[in-house]
Parts: sequence; structure tokens; C-alpha cells
Amino acid sequence: MNNIRLDISKAENFLPAGTLTAYVDKAKTALNAIETGKCPGNDFLGWITLPTDTTSQLLDDIKATAKVYREMCEYIVVVGIGGSYLGSRAVIEAMSDNFKWLKKDSKTPVVLFAGNNIGEDYLAELQELLKGKKFGVINISKSGTTTEPALAFRLLRKQCEDQRGKEEAKKVIVSITDAHKGAARAMATKEGYKTYVIPDNVGGRFSVLTPVGLLPIACAGLDIDQLIAGARDMQEATSGKVKAENNLSLQYAALRNVLYQEQGKKIEILANYQPKLHFIAEWWKQLFGESEGKDHKGIFPASVDLTTDLHSMGQWIQDGERSIMETVISVEHADHEVLFPHDDENLDGLNFLEGKRVDEVNKMAELGTQLAHVDGGVPNVRIVVPQISEYYIGQLIYFFEKACGISGNILGVNAFNQPGVEAYKKNMFALLNKPGYEAESKAIQERLRK
Ligand code: PA5
Repeated sequence: MNNIRLDISKAENFLPAGTLTAYVDKAKTALNAIETGKCPGNDFLGWITLPTDTTSQLLDDIKATAKVYREMCEYIVVVGIGGSYLGSRAVIEAMSDNFKWLKKDSKTPVVLFAGNNIGEDYLAELQELLKGKKFGVINISKSGTTTEPALAFRLLRKQCEDQRGKEEAKKVIVSITDAHKGAARAMATKEGYKTYVIPDNVGGRFSVLTPVGLLPIACAGLDIDQLIAGARDMQEATSGKVKAENNLSLQYAALRNVLYQEQGKKIEILANYQPKLHFIAEWWKQLFGESEGKDHKGIFPASVDLTTDLHSMGQWIQDGERSIMETVISVEHADHEVLFPHDDENLDGLNFLEGKRVDEVNKMAELGTQLAHVDGGVPNVRIVVPQISEYYIGQLIYFFEKACGISGNILGVNAFNQPGVEAYKKNMFALLNKPGYEAESKAIQERLRK
């Protein structure tokens, strides 16, 4: 099996000679630091060996649970936010038929997501959709105290119990949470729900290869053995034992840091040419944004879907402030074949494309865009993925996670915490008069009065 590949040639030539080498050396030191646990946040490094630590017993157990869900449910609602949601959504959307949710196939449950917003209409419309339907809930929260999923779970658990009866509902409610603490654990114990543990040493955004991602992905009918197999191969390919010039994660981490620190490239745009990869970019943004955006430092991770966004963001990328770099996920082989059709009248003048595969046109759009962006002063990195499959997505996930760990360490931040996320929660609870927040409530009311 091939590995995904990294092409940095169209970014390297933006750098004065020798600068990348210096950052490769920093990346080697950073890789060693995270692999030996000598780095900030070293109590959250469990993700590094997660692929090889994942046992076949755990995978079999998850597959058995998924089978129950698939047999008993028309809809499976995955409740979670941030790292407790984006990974599974990214893999499921990447691997699914673009129109699967519109196809009437009663044998395949539809996987839906909730608890990732506080939109009243979203929840109302979801409840309406699920009315009278056979649905199950996977409740995912490491802390077990996050407001968004807690709210959605309250609503959906009650609806599931009302529609199925309490005992039957227990068969299709699973909690994935901390081994011991938090409300989700306490409720699961009280109600007798099946549970899976999020390991203490794996943070939310690094948890897609734990049951957090694996159970929803298996529920969608996808091959979690292959996902883990891909991640395992990438774990080996990006280990400190591999020569730096062959280590994809190390090279990518070094490159984005040198572009940021020496060339003022403060924004990295992740681009794809396959609409299915939209949520891979959403997952990637959280991974890098929440890991690196600290101490007033960090590349801002943005994303575009191409060629779609060439007709919206294309102008900015080509011609706006030169503070961006671009990383393209380039998929080598499309799964289907569609040929450009002939048209007798040829009013659009496109008959010269007749008989060509649509994917060939897409690839030429990709190459043409790369050349244009490089000419416009945007360093371009290509991550070549042979095809969209569980195996290669497993590789891609691990590749980015390892690069993120190395990159954050080069930057000098703790890549594994997220203290900034608490700020909005504190204000929201104060505004909602949560018991225990009296002083904050008073201060915020005074501030708003001014
Ligand atoms: O990466 C993280 O740790 C966060 O994005 C969390 O995943 C997110 O805040 C959800 O937290 P929890 O799983 O505790 O509900």
C-alpha cells in the first residue's frame, strides 16, 4: 500500500537557502520532545501511540455496538462538540455518497449530529424529524459538562425514551466519556447505559481514533479496521526513527513554521477539490487552531472548497494581502467516471473537452490554480492522497495530528490544552445567572450598563 505524499517544492522556493534546514532541525528536536514526553502538556500525549495501542478487542466491541445501532435505528444522532464531534463527521462525510442522506435506503441508518450548537431552530427541527422514528443517541463528552451536548442529550434522551420506552431506549443510548468523572459518566452509571472511555491522556481534538470517532464511524457502516491500519502505518512513517527528509509530518511542521516565522505567512488555507472533504478541513481547523492559537501566537487556519470558492475567495487568495500559504489535499483517483458530454450546438464552446473525464478537468483546474497562486506569491504545499478510503483517511488524520504536535512545540506553545475556550463559557454562565457565578454576573452587568 502506498502512503500519502507531501510535495513542498512550490513552497520551498519562497525561502532563502538554508532557512528550511534550520527549521527541520527545530522540528527534529520538537518531535523528540513530544515522543519522549519532555514537552508542555505531556500528560496529553496518548494520541501518539493510539493506533498501535488500539486492540482488536476494542474494535470488535465497537463493531458489535454499531451493529445493534444499525439494526435498531433509522437515525443515529451523534451528540458532541469540538473534538467530540468533528473527527467522526469529517470521516463519515468524506466516505459517504454526496447524496446518501437523500436516498431512500431503509437498511442504512442516517447519522446526524447534534450538541454542536445552541440553535433553537436546529434542535426543534431535529426533534420534529425524529418524531415517531426509530433513533438512537451516542452521547460524547470528555468533560461531561459541556453545555451544548448536555442540552441536546437532555432533549434527545427524553424523546428516545418517550418513543421507545425506557428499557428499549437503553439499547440505543451509549455514552463516550471520562472513565470516572463528569455528568455523562454519572448518568450512564445511574441509567445503566453502555459506555466507552476517552483515555485521560487523549485530548478532544486528538480523539478521533478513540471510540469518540470510531463508534459513529462504524455506525455509518465504515471500516474502522482500515482507518486504524492507515493511522498505524502513518504512526510508523512519522516516528522519530524515520529520517527527517522522509518524515512527512516533520517536513510539513517545519515548513509551515518557517513560512510563519520568517516570511510573515500568518494564515494557512487548507484547500480541497472534492466537496466530500469539507469537514476534513473543519476538523483540521480545530486541530491546529485550538492547539496553536495561544500566547498571541499561531497561524490562523482557514479553508476553502475548490473550485467552488475560486468564485468567492479566489480573488483574495490571488491578489489580497500576501500573508497566506496554501495547503492542498489532492486526491489522485476519483471513485467514479463521468465523461464531458458532446453538445451539437456547442454554444458554451466546450466541445474541445468532449470525452475527457471530469476528474481530468478538475486536475487541470487544480494545477492551473497552483501555478496562478504561486505566481501571485502564495507558497503551495500539496498533500497527495491516492484515493478517498478509510485507510488513507486514517493516514491523513495521523499525519496531521503528528504535524500539529511537532508544529506547536516548534512554536513554543502547549499544543494540548485550550484555556481560551473557557472565556466565553464564563461570560455565558454569568449572563445566565448560573449558581456560583454571582460575582461574575454582577461585574458583567455593570460592564454592559456602561
Ligand atoms: O479539543 C478539545 O478538547 C475541545 O474541542 C473539546 O473536544 C470540546 O470542547 C468538547 O469538550 P467535551 O468533550 O468535554 O464536551
